[in-house]
Amino acid sequence: PLQATFATRLIAWQRRHGRHDLPWQNTRDPYRIWLSEIMLQQTQVSTVIPYYEKFLARFPDVASLAAAPLDEVMALWAGLGYYSRARNLHRCAQAVLERHGGAFPSIPEHLAELPGIGRSTAAAIASFAFGARATILDGNVKRVLARVFGVEGFPGEKRVENAMWSLAERLMPDSRASDDELSAYTQGLMDLGATLCVRGKPDCARCPFADDCVARVSGRQRELPAARPK
Ligand code: ADE
Repeated sequence: PLQATFATRLIAWQRRHGRHDLPWQNTRDPYRIWLSEIMLQQTQVSTVIPYYEKFLARFPDVASLAAAPLDEVMALWAGLGYYSRARNLHRCAQAVLERHGGAFPSIPEHLAELPGIGRSTAAAIASFAFGARATILDGNVKRVLARVFGVEGFPGEKRVENAMWSLAERLMPDSRASDDELSAYTQGLMDLGATLCVRGKPDCARCPFADDCVARVSGRQRELPAARPK
């Protein structure tokens, strides 16, 4: 069944066809990975890149960010939107210093206790920086899972979201997977949702799961994931 081979096939696809040269890839520095994941929460890659470069030039590490006045952080963030992210970014940097001696924790549950880091962002940071076996589940991933596995119901509904978290956990590479496999898997989930399995017109012809995809096989790409009930 597809569930058993999903991770292996996704990793193989990511290595050949995924993105490998984004500015926050090819590093295991949790600070750089955290900064990129916060910026990418509600903003697209092309918009984030210049802000990310500017932030790193001014604040090369978590200590310099924590020590900066909030005004300066807000000024550098201006234009990115969703400004609570910038306030939480500053608070999070201070919490990493105060609670963790300046080193980001590697356990997803500990990351998720920090300001601005939810369950999915915690999993992304832990998998890219530490090779942790933790699954992401953002809007793009919900769309991929709803289509490929035919998950019915509106993903904004708690019951549906819970079902997706358990499915996402079952799909992860098994406990023998290496750090590189775990981060390729996480990046593969992001890349499939961002480049092929998009909202408007998915590019099923290039998708490694097309032959098994419930949405594709039944011609329901436009109906999955289900819209918010009226
Ligand atoms: N969106 C959220 N995290 C991302 C990442 N690491 N790379 C590309 N897009 C993303």
